[in-house]
Amino acid sequence: MSRFVSSPLLVLGHGHQYPQTGEIMLRASITVFGAGYVGLVTATCLARSGHSVTLLDTNGLRIEALNAGHSPIHEPGIESLLADGVRAGNLRFVLGSPEAIDLGDFQFVAVGTPVTHGGAADLRQVRAVVDTILASGQTGNTVIMKSTVPPGTGAHFAAKLAPRGIGYVSNPEFLREGTAIADWDDADRIVLGGDSAAADKVAGLYDDSSSTIVRTSIATAELVKYASNAFLATKISFINEIAAVCDLVNADVVEVARAVGLDRRIGKAFLNAGIGYGGSCFPKDTQALSFLSSFNGYDFTLLKAVIEVNSRQRMLPVKALRDRLGDLTGHRVAVLGMAFKPDTDDTRESPGIDIAYMLLAAGASVAGYDPLGLAQVNDPQFSQCATISEAMAGTSAVIVATEWPQIVNADWHVLVSSMVEPRVVYDGRNALDGASIRKAGGCYVAVGRPAECSV
Ligand code: UDX
Ligand code: UDX
Repeated sequence: MSRFVSSPLLVLGHGHQYPQTGEIMLRASITVFGAGYVGLVTATCLARSGHSVTLLDTNGLRIEALNAGHSPIHEPGIESLLADGVRAGNLRFVLGSPEAIDLGDFQFVAVGTPVTHGGAADLRQVRAVVDTILASGQTGNTVIMKSTVPPGTGAHFAAKLAPRGIGYVSNPEFLREGTAIADWDDADRIVLGGDSAAADKVAGLYDDSSSTIVRTSIATAELVKYASNAFLATKISFINEIAAVCDLVNADVVEVARAVGLDRRIGKAFLNAGIGYGGSCFPKDTQALSFLSSFNGYDFTLLKAVIEVNSRQRMLPVKALRDRLGDLTGHRVAVLGMAFKPDTDDTRESPGIDIAYMLLAAGASVAGYDPLGLAQVNDPQFSQCATISEAMAGTSAVIVATEWPQIVNADWHVLVSSMVEPRVVYDGRNALDGASIRKAGGCYVAVGRPAECSV
């Protein structure tokens, strides 16, 4: 805290105004490594708080887009925060290796930690950043790990950095794509893992936040992130198991989840049954935690089941179509939603894309649609369509893979009439009105809900 330099008051054009009248803003100099979903939100929100932020990325296209005033990713609200930061002189973008620049007081690490084929976290990107910081020869600064790394990783980094007078704090991110800025502003908690001197400095960066700060050891902070994501994934797989039981007893999982979620001990969040979780976090973090447990001699049985249930969920629509249409060869099927969830352009581990490939393997031709025009399916039998109507015309079945409002609120009466028999509408997110699809002549099939269908 004491190392920050005082700066004049800043009033930004959009969103929040910092600081409140009469306060002196303590301004830190910060470098953020990685202009991905997490790094961009971290950099822009810290710049909005009045800090001086340099955002570094090794991807030239990302930096080019940023310097031209555009966000390289789709995240609601990010473009205006970027513009505000640049206008206020708090934000700049630098390509590649940072030898020539002063890395400042704090370095946030927000590069990717994908999963390896064996299920372990691939730490090459984070190691490269830590090595770069060491190579810069700076001292007295603090490295803050936002990227998700397995417990034990940070202690190793801290031991490498300490002899150079560099502090290390684990500060995991809990940002959901699509609502990441709101999640930053209204965080349920800010977890800081590290020794108290380093954690005190980092806490100063969050001075304008009213979120609870939780101080822990580095390993505990690292595990908080994995435990949180594994628990949320467990809730999803649990309700998906209940959906399977609903199918057996003719109950409706949407109503079950609503009533179960009203119990405050359980809560209603993350109880939406469907074709399961995707994205850049849950799949890789559940696998990495399971791997870490096995590697250390513990069989995390529950987590393995969570992962298995999730992979099964995305097979359900293809099975349902086979049950109703028989051999899928020659059938045209639409898949609506290529992003792993609404309001993002992220297609990592997206159920929609996996399902498209399964349908192609089963002999169908597939018409894909996403409001952001995302197409990642490389097959001559796959066509990417510009509109929902184009995708659905002449199809015998459609699968809703992502509950984008544009898809949910479309005119399903018109869409169903453009299909050919048996007009199966598989609602992979339990988001449509089954009765009206039936009324329009469609066969509505959902996950854990009674079908509205005569086929
Ligand atoms: C983040 C985290 O870092 C990950 O660990 C967490 O679990 C999920 O969120 P995300 O922001 O989604 O990842 O990553 P991504 O969108 O892949 O962006 C990473 C960026 O880092 C890319 O723009 C990439 O070009 C950049 N990068 C990567 C560097 O600048 N330097 C490198 O050495 C490697
Ligand atoms: C997640 C975590 O929520 C966030 O805290 C973490 O830091 C990054 O990973 P994100 O992956 O962006 O965020 O989205 P999230 O809203 O958590 O959804 C993840 C997946 O679960 C999506 O595919 C979504 O469709 C699915 N999901 C979510 C369900 O299937 N059912 C639900 O009830 C909720």
